[in-house]
Amino acid sequence: MSIKSLVEGIPYTRESIGKSGAEVRMYPDMVLKIGRTDALREESAMLTWLEGKLPVPRVLAFESEAEPRMSAILMTRIHGDMACSEALMENPTTLMDALGEAFDLLRHVECPKQDAVKRDLERAEQRVLAGEVDVSEWSTRTVSMGFTDPERLLSWLEMNRPATGHSFSHGDLCLPNILVGHGHVAGFIDLGSAGAADLWRDLALCERSIEDNFSGKYSGKPRPLDPGLFWDAVSMQPDREQMDYYLLLDELL
Ligand SMILES: Nc1ncnc2c1ncn2[C@@H]1O[C@H](COP(=O)(O)OP(=O)(O)O)[C@@H](O)[C@H]1O
Ligand SMILES: [Mg+2]
Repeated sequence: MSIKSLVEGIPYTRESIGKSGAEVRMYPDMVLKIGRTDALREESAMLTWLEGKLPVPRVLAFESEAEPRMSAILMTRIHGDMACSEALMENPTTLMDALGEAFDLLRHVECPKQDAVKRDLERAEQRVLAGEVDVSEWSTRTVSMGFTDPERLLSWLEMNRPATGHSFSHGDLCLPNILVGHGHVAGFIDLGSAGAADLWRDLALCERSIEDNFSGKYSGKPRPLDPGLFWDAVSMQPDREQMDYYLLLDELL
């Protein structure tokens, strides 16, 4: 059945939190994501591969148009609150417990074939060559590490690829991409960058998302948070060198 006939007449709301530029329509029990074919094709394939391995939406239909290279995924809706919701931000203990559970779930997924770091480097190269990287958006940390030029950062990243990369990684593990219900992980979404990498990729992006959300960057309401709580929740100690690689790579994506 076509996506059009599956959603016809059902009321929806738009969700605008994502930064990918995709249009997201929320139906009572389904979600329609419309965006660039290259990204959504990867996302749809990953969602299908993850079925039964991780709580993720089930793909109900995938359609693409040759022109203007747009696609749509119709998937089931996961019921829960985003990890950056007001309710969870007001209850950091519950939030951290859920994040601990999220990393436990991720750790147990088998390693996929898709080399996520290679794909990220290829995407980064395309963006650098197309002049799409905006250096003014780079973090002060990146600049303080001596990186001021996208081409030089790209060659550094290509030369310094981590030797590891044999485990599953979500790839965009920011708080809006983790849904929580009754204090537990209800599901993961936005898996277009998932693949074989290592957990430091997810830990780095998740820690940065916690910092950004608690600093008030998005809400305008700063909330103090002990950064150690996250590391206690995931039972690990941060390895800054490993994490920096993925944060630097993310500057080009
Ligand atoms: N299957 C889904 N179930 C529940 N909520 C979803 C689902 N897909 C998307 N959303 C909501 O829409 C938001 C944006 O979707 P997402 O796929 O993350 O887009 P983007 O790639 O632009 O970040 C998510 O943060 C979430 O709130
Ligand atoms: Mg998202």
